[in-house]
Amino acid sequence: MNDVNLKGIVTGAGKGIGFSTCKLFLEKNYKIIAITRSKSIKLNNLKNKYKSNLEIYYVDLTKFDAVSSICKVIFKKNKNINFLVNNAGVRFRKSFESTSLNDIMHVFNNNILSQLNLTKNYLLNINKRKNNSIVFISSIVGPKGFKDLSVYAATKGAIESFSRSLAIEYSSKKIRINCISPGFINTSYASNFKRNKKKLYNWTIEKTPMNRWGESNEIANVIDFLVSNKSSYITGENIFVDGGWVAS
Ligand SMILES: NC(=O)c1ccc[n+]([C@@H]2O[C@H](COP(=O)([O-])OP(=O)(O)OC[C@H]3O[C@@H](n4cnc5c(N)ncnc54)[C@H](OP(=O)(O)O)[C@@H]3O)[C@@H](O)[C@H]2O)c1
Repeated sequence: MNDVNLKGIVTGAGKGIGFSTCKLFLEKNYKIIAITRSKSIKLNNLKNKYKSNLEIYYVDLTKFDAVSSICKVIFKKNKNINFLVNNAGVRFRKSFESTSLNDIMHVFNNNILSQLNLTKNYLLNINKRKNNSIVFISSIVGPKGFKDLSVYAATKGAIESFSRSLAIEYSSKKIRINCISPGFINTSYASNFKRNKKKLYNWTIEKTPMNRWGESNEIANVIDFLVSNKSSYITGENIFVDGGWVAS
């Protein structure tokens, strides 16, 4: 696989890690199919700059019929897609007793079911004779216990397990499947979190051996490694990008 000509799908592309990943990939001359939910000025600016190297599709990934329709358009238009980055997800922080069944369904729909649905559409449509790579984004909240994050943690643990077993299912084909588990990353929620949850924020800094939150481009770089040929012998892996949190 020639990394310069890579083409792939990135979800949750409107902001945060997904946006940084699209930006990095476009700078590297990859062709990107960006999927996100709300209109994004930042993404539109990338479109103005990179023209036909960037296609943008707006869809709520929890609307499974709409996703199937969009996938038909994407795969008809784009042959030889090399990767899928399943990044879109929602955060959710609440005590378990105050969490409603609707809350639980919302988080599972966004963080698990929509990813499984898109991945299935993807696997059914790609050219299986070519090298391919799928990346999922879990979290350190998957393996580590955190107060008020049990439902979010359940989805992140599930995506990591799913990724590992799917990797084995596809290991004899040319499809590598891996996961990244970020620690606390400066994305769309960071400034509110730092302002309104000062004590919690200070605790996260104390718990991180590198004494800082990560930047979204520090996740994008690892996503790039996993979709590229540089990681050609890695599958079923989960990489922590967390400033040392889990290691400590
Ligand atoms: N930031 C962290 O500290 C951190 C840590 C560990 C793991 N993660 C994981 O990393 C991923 C990205 O996080 P982030 O912090 O970059 O998030 P973010 O800043 O909130 O951006 C998420 C992006 O995903 C889109 N999205 C969410 N749900 C969607 C849906 N149902 N359909 C289509 N698009 C959807 C959002 O669209 P809208 O603009 O419409 O909201 C937004 O563009 C998530 O899976 C998250 O759980 C993040």
